[in-house]
Amino acid sequence: MFSKIKTCVLYGLEGYVVDVETDLSGGLPNFSIVGLPDVSIRESKERVRSALKNSGFGFPVSRITVNLAPANLKKEGSQIDLPIAVGILSANKDIKKNIDDKTCIIGELSLDGNITKIDGALPMVISMRENSFERVVVPVENRDECGAVDGINIIPVGNIKDLVNYFNDSLIIEPYRTEYGSFENTDLSEVDFSEIKGQPAMKRAVEIAAAGMHNILLLGSPGAGKTMIAQRIPSILPDLTFEESLEVTKIYSIAGLLTTNGLINKRPFRSPHHTSSRAAIAGGGSKPSPGEVSLAHCGVLFLDEIPEFPKSVIEVLRQPMEDGSISISRANGSFTFPAKFMMIAAMNPCICGYYGDPTHECTCSRSQIDRYLGKISGPLLNRIDIQIEVSPVKYDDLKNESDEESSCEIKKRIARAREIQKNRYANTRILTNSELSGKYISKYCKIDKESEMLLREAFEKLGLSARAYGKIIKVARTIADLEENEFIECRHIAEALQYRGLDRKYWR
Ligand SMILES: Nc1ncnc2c1ncn2[C@@H]1O[C@H](COP(=O)(O)OP(=O)(O)OP(=O)(O)O)[C@@H](O)[C@H]1O
Ligand SMILES: [Mg+2]
Ligand SMILES: [Zn+2]
Repeated sequence: MFSKIKTCVLYGLEGYVVDVETDLSGGLPNFSIVGLPDVSIRESKERVRSALKNSGFGFPVSRITVNLAPANLKKEGSQIDLPIAVGILSANKDIKKNIDDKTCIIGELSLDGNITKIDGALPMVISMRENSFERVVVPVENRDECGAVDGINIIPVGNIKDLVNYFNDSLIIEPYRTEYGSFENTDLSEVDFSEIKGQPAMKRAVEIAAAGMHNILLLGSPGAGKTMIAQRIPSILPDLTFEESLEVTKIYSIAGLLTTNGLINKRPFRSPHHTSSRAAIAGGGSKPSPGEVSLAHCGVLFLDEIPEFPKSVIEVLRQPMEDGSISISRANGSFTFPAKFMMIAAMNPCICGYYGDPTHECTCSRSQIDRYLGKISGPLLNRIDIQIEVSPVKYDDLKNESDEESSCEIKKRIARAREIQKNRYANTRILTNSELSGKYISKYCKIDKESEMLLREAFEKLGLSARAYGKIIKVARTIADLEENEFIECRHIAEALQYRGLDRKYWR
């Protein structure tokens, strides 16, 4: 007696089809699984055995051989429990009819026969749709994330008994659709820009950064409001589109971090501590899971007190900052997770925090200051689009009762600037100015004679690098977009130049 069930395993965000072939034959009772099973699948054997017994189905007294094919694919994950159990039930004719090859089954079993939640259900379902499956049987607890996917039926099931009844046509389970309403951005962020008093220069720089997805370095003395403003940046970024939301949810699904019902509809804000390991930032591990750079995809990666991060950790940021993705290599091949984020870095200028502060005296020696600033490498500094120095909020500003602009108003301006960018880059894969590279910069960021002269002068006087040159023009493009101005003018370039002043003042 033989059966064949389809299931899925994940490599990064990509799901692959696996055949679970089960053969029951005479001979001494035995239960073996072949086809490169890893440790988790061996454990799965015990769960399947208990779950079947405790669901009232006897465990067949036969020689049971389960083959997971193709053999060359390494199978990982507890989602294989359920297809193995169904394979046995089907070969044993507890399930009467043949389960067709358009049905994929994923789910973990608990010893009592319940089907429990798995990590990565959403990316599996999306991949199975691409593989022309018609339906996926998923654990009930995974139904909200999966039910958002169009074009494939989601059959949520709570326990083995129900599933057997479903296949034997004695229980009807309607395909589950996540209410579209649950995607809508109902989130009214708890924090708002209006709470930040004064600080117009810092707010302006952050608004430009958000409008063009530029990364930004905030440098200033303690209590200047750097952490405060960073935490409020998601509240001015445009709402996630449906596609972005799916992408973000896939990543959180794999990481086992889905707490919402359905899709994530809020831009991520990740603020890893400087003691985080390289793997925690980049991703990886024995069960490959996305790191902070991927968890920040479509949102904000905030590196507070950036000089405290070890160099090796900062170095891993380079690839995602340039490519918008990160490759993780493992013994059995490498894969890629998306990692397109807006990086916000904050730091004090020295150990005591007050170097350059107008009201406090810095107690550090010059060599201490140099050593502290030296922790930020040239190549990293070079990759930052906007640098801004922030000083503590003025007393009068703090006491001022008049209303500060709310996140909602700033968000509208940013949304308009993003719309302009989207239209301009309609025939490319680019969404925002920060993504422009060499040939696109000359194509989309034309500047007039006057600006040209200003730039030339700055370039020679300040000794700017070619990369800095590109960044200045991109930032100027964003400033013009915020004004809804088609042309980059001299004053846009002049403002963009201001955001590159810190290297020289502090790093010399
Ligand atoms: N512009 C401001 N308006 C209102 N409150 C402010 C402002 N700036 C700072 N604060 C208050 O000061 C507190 C400290 O600010 P915050 O933690 O953002 O400073 P920081 O620049 O990150 O300092 P550090 O360098 O020590 O990390 C905030 O929680 C907030 O209450
Ligand atoms: Mg801070
Ligand atoms: Zn100091």
